[in-house]
Amino acid sequence: MITYPDRNDHILPDLLGAINSIRLYSHKHPQARTSVDRVMERLDQVFQTEEKLAIGVFNDNMLVNRKPVVGVGKVSESMVKVLKEVGIDQIVFLKGLYQEEFTMFLMETFGTGAGSSGFMDYSHILLGRISEDEEKGEDTNVDSVMDLSSSKDFIWMLRNLDPQNPFNFKAVRDLSVDLMDTFRYSATPLKYLAEVKSEDEYTYVHTINVALLSMSLAKHIGISGSELMDIIYAALMHDVGKMLVPKEILNKTGPLTPDEFEIIKAHTVNGVMYLCNQKEIPRIAILAALEHHIKYSGGGYPNITRDWKPHFVSQIISIADIYDALRSNRPYRARLEHDQIMGILRHDAGIGLNPQLVEVFIEMLEGQSN
Ligand SMILES: [Fe+2]
Ligand SMILES: [Fe+2]
Repeated sequence: MITYPDRNDHILPDLLGAINSIRLYSHKHPQARTSVDRVMERLDQVFQTEEKLAIGVFNDNMLVNRKPVVGVGKVSESMVKVLKEVGIDQIVFLKGLYQEEFTMFLMETFGTGAGSSGFMDYSHILLGRISEDEEKGEDTNVDSVMDLSSSKDFIWMLRNLDPQNPFNFKAVRDLSVDLMDTFRYSATPLKYLAEVKSEDEYTYVHTINVALLSMSLAKHIGISGSELMDIIYAALMHDVGKMLVPKEILNKTGPLTPDEFEIIKAHTVNGVMYLCNQKEIPRIAILAALEHHIKYSGGGYPNITRDWKPHFVSQIISIADIYDALRSNRPYRARLEHDQIMGILRHDAGIGLNPQLVEVFIEMLEGQSN
């Protein structure tokens, strides 16, 4: 049985029905009128509490108001197909939309002979066009469905998670929504991710993995809302200072010289300097960039004071950081097996890492892999 967990998802089958009716009949045909009425009723309901309704396609998935649509099966598939056929990947309906405008939009976009003169302008409908996005490589004038200029990379990343990755689909979906919210909350991590991807693939994947793992651990201990957003943000930016480390040093296979190690260690302080020059940075992100290599019981780098205790959020990110580094192939060593990594984390609990957090982290990973 089809279920619609999000009230706004109801719009999809009705919208698809209206599109199909316009394709088959004249807009004056009773069938077409009924379908249009139904969508307008849905939209009127939505506009009682919201200013707009955004429908989008990302990597063959439908999104309504930035949330992936679930449980609509074939309707979602058909809608993706229909929108692709006409070269649209986003439709935003704005409050104030009236029936004639909506009917005109359907006829001009999906009706017979549609597309021959390009898309028309509407007062209450904004369209994101596939070809235009690709040509420009940036957002259209639409208030983006997700504010995710690199959403395709993000979804690619989700689909290419390490096979040993413990997340099940539902967990990944929940996490992706939080991650998307973070990107909506600030574009800075996106700009950084785009830059780091072109510079260093490992740091790019590592950064996203650390964000997913930190987010998961934080949620596991009950953190939510704006605090969770700040943690995701901080995790995404924790290694931003590595942008200033020369690639030859970052990817060196042999042992580092003392000078090279100093340059690597400086990524913490350089990260702070980078973040301090950005607008509206959560303070915790600055702190985590500074502290994520400082040990729980003192030591590590940078050397601030011997008894400097990293912030709780930095402690979360440290665990995710070490876990992801150990399970990755690096130029100087092969990836470690899950059990070996768990052994290292347990050994480091209470020394480099917060023991309670390590316990929860291991429970979380092992619980999800069962
Ligand atoms: Fe780091
Ligand atoms: Fe890192």
